[in-house]
Amino acid sequence: MAITKRNEAYFETRLGRIYCVDSLEFMRTEIGDASVDLIMTSPPFGLVRKKAYGNVDAESYGTWFHPFGLEFHRILKPNGSLVIDIGGAWNKGQPTRSLYHFELLIMLCKDLGFHLAQEIFWWNPSKLPTPAEWVTVRRVRVKDAVNCVWWLSKTPWPKASNRRVLLPYSDSMKNLLKNGYKAKKRPSGHDISTKFNINNKASIPPNLLAVPNTESNSHYLRYCKEKGLPQHPARFPGDVPEFFIRMLTDPGEIVFDPFAGSCVTGEVAERLKRKWICCDSVEEYLAGALARFENGDPTLFPEMPQNRHVREICYKIFHPSAMWDRLEYDPLPVHGGRTRKLGSKVRHPDSESKSKPTFVRERVAKPRGKAHSRANAGTKSSTKFKKRSTRKRA
Ligand SMILES: C[S@@+](CC[C@H](N)C(=O)[O-])C[C@H]1O[C@@H](n2cnc3c(N)ncnc32)[C@H](O)[C@@H]1O
Repeated sequence: MAITKRNEAYFETRLGRIYCVDSLEFMRTEIGDASVDLIMTSPPFGLVRKKAYGNVDAESYGTWFHPFGLEFHRILKPNGSLVIDIGGAWNKGQPTRSLYHFELLIMLCKDLGFHLAQEIFWWNPSKLPTPAEWVTVRRVRVKDAVNCVWWLSKTPWPKASNRRVLLPYSDSMKNLLKNGYKAKKRPSGHDISTKFNINNKASIPPNLLAVPNTESNSHYLRYCKEKGLPQHPARFPGDVPEFFIRMLTDPGEIVFDPFAGSCVTGEVAERLKRKWICCDSVEEYLAGALARFENGDPTLFPEMPQNRHVREICYKIFHPSAMWDRLEYDPLPVHGGRTRKLGSKVRHPDSESKSKPTFVRERVAKPRGKAHSRANAGTKSSTKFKKRSTRKRA
């Protein structure tokens, strides 16, 4: 490991070290060229609504990230990978999306010479429907429930194997294996040969990771509470870094997380017997992160799902048209939802109620800033409006 002793570690385990530092400075002064196998990280996102640790906004995101990108390229081994978990953001005051995370990807590839090995999407099935103003109040957008995970590399051939991250077969694949499959050419032109009948005992995962972010009573959270430390507000679940650490590194290799927060990456790397380095500039987060390492082997990682039952949770995803069996009965909002239809009650054709559908007065959206603050205020304001409209009807 090309780490010198100039920066003293905040905490050390057998395999890893935590540093309370500005990771840009740390890389520049402490990490040698081509010495890291995997950079696995979730940087501060370019959000409109700021996190406690202070995010950069979407407009200046590329400029802020550029020097980090340069260092990442320098410290990665030629066959190493850079994996960035990054959430999208909404533009201020309107139901449109920022392009900042796509611009970041383009900057990393076009300006800094990274290759996009693959884009992976982390779907959080437990994500709340936000921003409430666009999703639950005006109903003009759908729930934003995926983060992009950019898997980048210095060459087109980073070390990788999908054999490390196989999944159980789906029921339909088990049926296909049981009942056999007629080899034929699909309309798309793909030739489905008899090889599809071979039972490989597991399936190759898609580029969609279904991982709920629902930690609510973990050892980490209890530890922070007991010690009066802040619980990190933007933790990713261990299953996200685990997928990449398994697929892209071998035991003993070096994993680096420059924006480590509560050091989930370090915890997973330690369990998987990789060497690791975690940096964060906020000491309180690192103080809480020690919960992940306090017990030592063998009771380390008390929250890791040990039993197969937890590991076998799978998600049923409905076909998009599962409820679309008739013509649309709800007229689309005029002006794309720019006016706010308040407390509207749309009568479903199957409804037994004889009463007419009630449309309450429409209110025009306030100028940008206000509209946005209402979006952030969530359902509170909509509840208020609904109550008022009910009173009127009565
Ligand atoms: C999205 S959070 C990472 C959360 C982490 N993945 C976890 O699961 O706990 C980003 C972190 O980057 C840290 N950070 C921001 N700029 C930094 C810098 N220049 N050097 C080190 N850490 C930084 C913030 O303090 C914050 O904890």
